[in-house]
Amino acid sequence: MNDPHALPAVAPLFNGGQPSYETGALRLALGLASDKPFNLGALLSDRLCVQGHGDRLALVWENHSGLRKDFTFDDLRRYSDVWAATLADLGIVAGDRVCLFLDRVPDLYFAFLGILKLGAVAQPLFSQFMADALEVRLADADTRAVITTARHVEKVRSARVRLPGLSWVILTDVKPGAAPVLGKGETAINAETAPPRAFTPLAANDDTPSLLHYTSGTTGRPKGAQHVHGSVLSQFATTRHVLDLRPEDVYWCTADPGWVTGTSYGIIGPWAVGATQAVFEAGFSAPRWYEFIARHRVTVFYTAPTAIRMLMKAPPPAAEQLVSLRHMCSVGEPLNPAAVLWAERVMGRPFYDTYWQTETGAIMIANVPGLPIKPGSMGKPVPGIEAAILDAQTHQPVTKPGAPGLLAFRPPWPSMFRGYFKAEQTYQSKFVGAYYLTGDRGSVDSDGYYWFVGRDDDVINTAGHLVGPFEVESALLRHPAVAESAAVSKPDPTFGEVVKSFIVLRPGYAGSDELRLDIMNFVRKHLSPLAMPHAIDFVDKLPKTRSGKILRRMLRAQEWGEPVGDLSSLDD
Ligand code: WT7
Repeated sequence: MNDPHALPAVAPLFNGGQPSYETGALRLALGLASDKPFNLGALLSDRLCVQGHGDRLALVWENHSGLRKDFTFDDLRRYSDVWAATLADLGIVAGDRVCLFLDRVPDLYFAFLGILKLGAVAQPLFSQFMADALEVRLADADTRAVITTARHVEKVRSARVRLPGLSWVILTDVKPGAAPVLGKGETAINAETAPPRAFTPLAANDDTPSLLHYTSGTTGRPKGAQHVHGSVLSQFATTRHVLDLRPEDVYWCTADPGWVTGTSYGIIGPWAVGATQAVFEAGFSAPRWYEFIARHRVTVFYTAPTAIRMLMKAPPPAAEQLVSLRHMCSVGEPLNPAAVLWAERVMGRPFYDTYWQTETGAIMIANVPGLPIKPGSMGKPVPGIEAAILDAQTHQPVTKPGAPGLLAFRPPWPSMFRGYFKAEQTYQSKFVGAYYLTGDRGSVDSDGYYWFVGRDDDVINTAGHLVGPFEVESALLRHPAVAESAAVSKPDPTFGEVVKSFIVLRPGYAGSDELRLDIMNFVRKHLSPLAMPHAIDFVDKLPKTRSGKILRRMLRAQEWGEPVGDLSSLDD
């Protein structure tokens, strides 16, 4: 009753027992007056401090060598103010894109909130991206500043030569007192040791740009999905309703904030709820993951099927290690029924699958507490979301239960992306009639459960990360031996899918295992480890349409042992 850490009562999210996406109720629960300006960065940090809960734990951070640091909401407030004020000193203004090119270090979280407080746009990029992948995304976003560490700065420096709009490279790990080795246009910020700065956050509204998340499509370059401050309404609702997160929980989301799960549910949702987040800045290791859950008494866990499959291959946890866990969810790729059942047996509870995309900003379809799980199904649309399976030809909803079609949603909802940065036509192409097309195929059964069938495009989903075939093929073209190539997905028991490349060599080159390794390494070093082909076939020619388009779908069907299908429709 008199728990000093209890949060003030919030308005119920459930209308007469029915979960509501009604924005008025959500606003009330977040303490936002309708039509009054607010700021997402301040909402996630200052709000709890103003309510007298600044001493609550916001972030428990641990790295690979066992170093642990704890941060309260008051720390989030203070350090994000330093970031916002210092970025302003550097001339960064509202609307500017500021890239976070960081491992999961505490500064990633402070800077993220500071960028939002300033009204600038956070552009998180996965720190394992190499110079080519980085440059394409920084050039597209016309990024003003990149925040990074010594470990990754060389990749930024090499890309920077061709990025005239990039004014600042900001290092977060220059020790105070050490003589920093900073080049021209480089500076260092250390929020934890800097004197406190007062900062008045930008008065934003629902439609103020917040985040630019790059995602891959079949053709062309990666596209920046533009998100807004108002997205928090969807993320807050689903964090409570689907992840079942409450202020007293200790929550662990294993996704990197370079991807949308790591921001929507690794920053925004949990801190909107006021929960404590545990962050593990380390690679995968089953025993260490179980120890981490036990040490921090994690209650809610959100991860991806590839990680679950890796846990399944490792020795099981000790019974007492997972007693704190109350709820576990999965996202990013199909969750095998076997993984749901394994978790129930070995971890003590099943994984609840959730489905969404970079573009949707928040969970759209989910298995939620109280809804019986059908293993293999993604669950049902969350409150306020209208999903449909559309016929591929007519784009009319398919009415026959179980019949596959295009998975679509009827906009709007608060976290719906507002466009692809500088790519209006691509954005428009995602809509037909009243629907937004996800690019996935699915079906819905007679009980209203949705099932994932596959992607409707050539994008490769490896370990839950989307890789665009065009980006891999463009990187391969820069290798001296490659004349032409096609990148497609190949099934993999652990990663779900991996990249496979079919390569036509230039005259004078002969296919060999050595060349294969050289080409694989070339992609890994220039683009990213994720995009590296795990298999390469050297071929004399690639299958093409009459107009010369490579028939990736035919190659893919062969890899998956599926019928190649009617090629005449592809023969444009
Ligand atoms: C694509 C979106 C959603 C945040 C992380 C990925 C695939 C996502 C599931 C699921 C089967 C899934 C889809 C989707 N996907 N969740 N539960 N079952 N496939 O965001 O990088 O934009 O990827 O991931 O193909 O379109 P993203």
